[in-house]
Amino acid sequence: HPALSVSRAALLPPPGGPGDAAGQALPVESRPFASYGSALHIALPQAPRAGQLLTLLIDYEAGEGPGVCWLSPEQTAGKQKPYMYTQGQAVLNRSFFPCFDTPSVKFTYSATVKVPEGFTAVMSATSWEKQKDNTFVFKMSQPIPSYLIALVVGDIVSADVGPRSRVWAEPCLIEAAKKEYDGVIEEFLVVGEKLFGPYVWGRYDILFMPPSFPFGGMENPCLTFVTPCLLAGDRSLVDVIIHEISHSWFGNLVTNATWGEFWLNEGFTMYAQRRISTEVYGLPYTCLEAATGRALLRQHMDATGEDHPLNKLRVVIEPVFSFFLGINPDDTYNETPYEKGYCFVSYLAHLVGNQSKFDAFLQAYVNRFKFQSITADDTLGFFLEYFPELKEKGVDSISGFEFDRWLNTPGWPPYLPDLSPGQQLMRPADELAELWAADSLNMEAIEAVDITGWRTYQLVYFLDQVLQKSPLPEGNVKRLSKMYPKISKAQNAELRLRWCQIILKNNLEAEYSKVKDFLHSQGKQKYTLPLYRAMWGGSEATRALAMETFSATAPQLHVNVQNYVKKILGLGGAE
Ligand code: BES
Ligand code: ZN
Repeated sequence: HPALSVSRAALLPPPGGPGDAAGQALPVESRPFASYGSALHIALPQAPRAGQLLTLLIDYEAGEGPGVCWLSPEQTAGKQKPYMYTQGQAVLNRSFFPCFDTPSVKFTYSATVKVPEGFTAVMSATSWEKQKDNTFVFKMSQPIPSYLIALVVGDIVSADVGPRSRVWAEPCLIEAAKKEYDGVIEEFLVVGEKLFGPYVWGRYDILFMPPSFPFGGMENPCLTFVTPCLLAGDRSLVDVIIHEISHSWFGNLVTNATWGEFWLNEGFTMYAQRRISTEVYGLPYTCLEAATGRALLRQHMDATGEDHPLNKLRVVIEPVFSFFLGINPDDTYNETPYEKGYCFVSYLAHLVGNQSKFDAFLQAYVNRFKFQSITADDTLGFFLEYFPELKEKGVDSISGFEFDRWLNTPGWPPYLPDLSPGQQLMRPADELAELWAADSLNMEAIEAVDITGWRTYQLVYFLDQVLQKSPLPEGNVKRLSKMYPKISKAQNAELRLRWCQIILKNNLEAEYSKVKDFLHSQGKQKYTLPLYRAMWGGSEATRALAMETFSATAPQLHVNVQNYVKKILGLGGAE
């Protein structure tokens, strides 16, 4: 990456052998590769023998690239000390350290990190030790792909929340963090192990990031990074934790070999997440959560067009003729690999027709490919091998449901899992949304519905229905806002996102400030982009709101998110 400067490369003598410890200096050259990085070529003195181990020493400096984020004290929760974090996925770690920055290569690592007095360093590592002089030594003893190496340095402290789990956060957030997840993490791990096999990473810790962290969660091994938006006070957003835990098997153990098959990580993880959720919270609740996921897929496909080339599971990242024409893997982050991927895995389960048989397959799959990087062909080949009777029947080529079609044709999933067990939770929300969409409101019927006991995801589902029916007849949303302060004044980020979308779609000018406040309070990509798209697609007033909000918040946003917003606002960002 242009932000990484390599000053020297050297070939070290074999361990224990004779030779200059500084090594033999080697010529280094940077050659064109892609818009998001170049190839580092190091010339060896002679061609190595097959299987020969070489030790290269590369001296480099990093710091200003997109993978390493430097926050000022004002950008932290405590506002006292600066903070730095790295975010590798998908192709950003090449600006952090020189590496084979592809998920097809796995390696162990160790790191020695010296920080200023008053700071703590943490990494995605299986062991760590604090030595003298504020020096931390980390070791990851399992092979992982480059995108899973992660570092945070800040004023952070920790608290135990389980036998192999603690939460990390700035001191002012640690109480809330502990309260949110005390005693709940272990159950998810235990259920995950029961379903998918041993948890190989030792600890499972959670680090609460500053508000500008662009993701809900990032599955850095041993140490998941999460947005502070998860501190809802009622554990209602714990599905994100279950999702990141699920990556311990799907993604971190069995890894997509290329970013063109990102669905292998995320689609299987969504499936695993919902299996754990079903075991812990039951089928109705899990189907409700899955229905909100399906609504996100619907919104995404409506916004991009079903036929958009990114709306297939297998995406072409590198065209044959020129790397420069290829797609930046970071730009393939959308709902398709998640929710269409989930539908495909559910379809495979449907073909098997028996949950425990399919669970056993998933466990065998993890065991077969653990510590490897694989393609969808490996996955599907193993599936057919594991179920020879299905192979015999030719399930990979059933008309309309061909595996090839799933992978290579954009559009709405040909098969949707049955979410009707969630009906008991969804129906009241559907009916209430129907009532609010009427031309003349039946207030008696509306007042008869008591939403005070509704779970967060029921409210989310209700708001998605309202959004889908929006703009509602004049005046309805204003009344809705007044009637349900639990929604319109919510602090829960998932509710705030939906409420802001409703405000914008209905031109509820009186509440525009809520959109602004929400965008000032956090910088998650999945919250930020839909709101800017809605503002930009709206009136002159919402466009002005978008410009004003962006110029005030841009410096706090992750550089990728900044660029995507610029693109939406026609400011020449690179999407
Ligand atoms: N690995 C992803 C986050 C990611 C994807 C980072 C692509 C960079 C590039 C993580 O596991 C994830 O999917 N997070 C979701 C959680 C949700 C699906 C429960 C998120 O951030 O919204
Ligand atoms: Zn994920």
